[in-house]
Amino acid sequence: MASKKIVIIPGDGIGKEVTSISKLVLEKIAVKYNHNFSFEERLIGHTAIEAVGSPLPDETLEACRTADAILLGAVGDPRYDNNPSLKVRPEQGLLKIRKELGLFANIRPIKLFDQLIHASSLKEEVLRGSDILFFRELTSGIYFGTPRERSDNGNTAIDTMIYKKHEVRRIAKKAFEAAMMRSKKLCSVDKANVLESSRLWREIVQEMTADYPEVEVTHMFVDNASMQLIRDPKQFDVILTGNLFGDILTDEASQIAGSMGMLPSASVGDSVGLYEPIHGSAPDIAGKGIANPMASVLSLALMMELAFGLQEEGKAVVSAVEQFLAAGYRTVDIAQADTAKDKITSTEKTGEILISYL
Ligand code: IPM
Ligand code: MG
Repeated sequence: MASKKIVIIPGDGIGKEVTSISKLVLEKIAVKYNHNFSFEERLIGHTAIEAVGSPLPDETLEACRTADAILLGAVGDPRYDNNPSLKVRPEQGLLKIRKELGLFANIRPIKLFDQLIHASSLKEEVLRGSDILFFRELTSGIYFGTPRERSDNGNTAIDTMIYKKHEVRRIAKKAFEAAMMRSKKLCSVDKANVLESSRLWREIVQEMTADYPEVEVTHMFVDNASMQLIRDPKQFDVILTGNLFGDILTDEASQIAGSMGMLPSASVGDSVGLYEPIHGSAPDIAGKGIANPMASVLSLALMMELAFGLQEEGKAVVSAVEQFLAAGYRTVDIAQADTAKDKITSTEKTGEILISYL
């Protein structure tokens, strides 16, 4: 029996809808496997700005520091997107929580469920057998480098892409270790033909190959990688990359899995881990009850395995998703023309069915 404190941060948009399903799933796991999960709910993003004026209130950070795991929904609100002059923005909350908790490794598995092979716009023969594990650096790079400011009376803007050797080494170590557990293939993605920070990145990864002689390491420029990903995704196993490149490439790679709505992620580092879907707050469908909760639910599988070492519970969650799909149920984002209408499920119904399989 495990006793764990889980902080739930629903955030914005569909984040609230999907985490409410995940909480039910957690409660079900607790009962079924006789664990004691306690929950604390906290604010982030636009929701937090509205409530207390800050995208990451201190109470949220405090609760996280003493948690055994964090479940996050999504952050973002369209009201800020077309108003670049706003100084306080929801995303600052997400960036700050990552930085403050030292979550330097964002692990994004791109796994295609067999039942969804037709949900992607890519050809079946290109997709079948794809299984990629991304390691995206999450607390440095251009997302955090300084200076980042306007100068010259607002006529010039600057962001800074910065990497330190130790920052590359610690994320690369995680990727190498994962590669050792998988097919021993690692592709490091950078833009070393142009960027100095990428040359440093490549230098470190090359240096580290000596510590992992069994791992076959390749280096790819990010422009080429973005093309290769959809041309032949099966050539990849573990992909290691920086913050910005990883953000972009994992959205692209979501199409290998059929939908953003299916992809979980784990952000880990020095201490407590944070588990969240790779999708955003999806304001276009928020509040309609049609969001796909599976990315959030699958993030729980990662939480069970990585944070708690509960392998069986993690497998049970994945298996519930498989059974749901095998029975022909679909949320709208993964529904195809040939799926019977009565098998299209709402967020809530999806949760009920998943829980019944657990
Ligand atoms: C992600 C998101 C975030 C990011 C945004 C919301 C700041 O796109 O987690 O991929 O860019 O990291
Ligand atoms: Mg993103």
